[in-house]
Amino acid sequence: MNKYTKTELVANRQSLMRTFIKPEDDASRLVLIKYMEQISFGLHEFLRKHVGITEQVSLKDLSGRFKNTLISKNPEKKLTDVITEIVEDIAPHAVNVASPYFIGHMTSAIPFFMVHLKTVVAALNQNVVKIETSKVVSILEKQVLAKIHRLVYRRSSDFYDRYVQNIRTTLGCFVEDGTLANITALWVARNSLLAPKNGFTGVEQEGIQAAYSAYNINRCVVIVSRLGHYSIKKAGGLLGIGNQNIIAVDVDADNRMDLDCLKKTIRKIKHDGTGIMAVVGIAGTTETGAIDPLPQIGAICAENRIYFHVDAAWGGPVLMSEKYSHLLEGIDSADSVTIDGHKQFYMPMSCGMVFFKDPSIMDAVKYHANYVNRFGSVDLGIKSLAGSREASSLILDSALKIMGSQGYALLIEHGIETNRRFAEEIERRDNFELITRPELNILTYRICPSDIKRRLAEADSEQICIINKELNKTNRAVQRRQRAAGKSFVSRTKLRTGNNPGKEIVVFRCVIMNPMTDIKILNEILDEQEEIYFSLSPLLNIQHLTQNG
Ligand SMILES: Cc1ncc(COP(=O)(O)O)c(C=O)c1O
Repeated sequence: MNKYTKTELVANRQSLMRTFIKPEDDASRLVLIKYMEQISFGLHEFLRKHVGITEQVSLKDLSGRFKNTLISKNPEKKLTDVITEIVEDIAPHAVNVASPYFIGHMTSAIPFFMVHLKTVVAALNQNVVKIETSKVVSILEKQVLAKIHRLVYRRSSDFYDRYVQNIRTTLGCFVEDGTLANITALWVARNSLLAPKNGFTGVEQEGIQAAYSAYNINRCVVIVSRLGHYSIKKAGGLLGIGNQNIIAVDVDADNRMDLDCLKKTIRKIKHDGTGIMAVVGIAGTTETGAIDPLPQIGAICAENRIYFHVDAAWGGPVLMSEKYSHLLEGIDSADSVTIDGHKQFYMPMSCGMVFFKDPSIMDAVKYHANYVNRFGSVDLGIKSLAGSREASSLILDSALKIMGSQGYALLIEHGIETNRRFAEEIERRDNFELITRPELNILTYRICPSDIKRRLAEADSEQICIINKELNKTNRAVQRRQRAAGKSFVSRTKLRTGNNPGKEIVVFRCVIMNPMTDIKILNEILDEQEEIYFSLSPLLNIQHLTQNG
């Protein structure tokens, strides 16, 4: 018997029935209320102690605690014991993504009301695959999709009156995450390109080989900048075109898709038996936050009659800010747009969305079944990749009502403006080098003392590689130390400087989405990195490089 279990528990019909109705007894009810109060109103408190993957208890130690693979025949614990265990034994070893010192990833604090909304969704347990298990929630989902569609495409009121509740069309689809949103968009793009014609019933039915011969092509490609999210590659694999046919074009000095490279790539492959399934523009690249030149990419796609998808998983909600929505100019020229709810709509994990300019285009991926999703029904499952789905739309719709576009705008503006101040601070300090300038709320930088900066400026490419190798080791070590110390967390990645594959450098990656993260905290994070840098022995190599020229 462990520390939580007081009496022996048995699985019998009577106690089983009770679990569907109410807590075990009055005492356990009180414990549950206590914890639910803590979870609902004090979430940040009970996560506050740790940031990042500290080494206080190592992953190795933790995995040692989770090795029992047997399911006990009789119940092991009451609900109150299970919740106590989660609060006391699991939560302290989870990552405090809500800390304002956690600036490493696209996961951050969420408004506390999101926990309540998520609870409501679980309590209602609607399944929006079909109207028979969701009724009004399916109708609400269509309305929420139209609201975000309107934010992106800004069509007329007449347009939305016509389509908001149209049962034959859809303005988009809720999915699990950004990955599935991108895959859905490219699924639609593939089926639109390799559509039924002259006795060929379409790629969805006949498969990729038959499609290539019907269209007299030998491959299909998707073009994206080399900073594209890896979900685009997954789509290449899943959709049968092969992920080697995701063509990565170079970026310019600001990490935006290089338009000349795009044009050249299209020109080169257009007449060699290649079908261009889509060009993907990115509105907020994962690693640098850069926004591709969407109006120009849109024009190139229109001219060449290529499907244009915008991956705005990260940047989409910037449209809520009147001050910065111009950064996404041209997004409305896309055939489809990905936006994540669990990113800058601050929803709990996980919610992705994909929107389509043409309300009928998702017909290319529709499926029916006799028991559900029948012809002519409102069932949202007819056109979604997922079957059963939770009602994420209920959370987003409520959040939009609670926050208003102005509430979201304040969050977006705080992220962008704090990031700019952070960039200035990095540039002001001798030991740091700003690598990618902030366009949104993401930037990258590294430790690179000013004497080494000077050496780099005069070095030939061989020397640059040697120096960068040492800097890479140092930056990697500093990032790991900081993460292990657990006070703050900044992520790291490797970036190419220019488009030279030989010059990949390790950089710190900072994502500012927590409204509590301010310049004071960011300065503390830089101070800590500097301290770690001075205390680390691998730095001797850098100093050696500097001294010996
Ligand atoms: C630009 C972009 N697209 C797509 C994704 C994939 O999103 P998810 O992790 O929700 O699948 C990400 C995630 O970081 C992203 O940054």
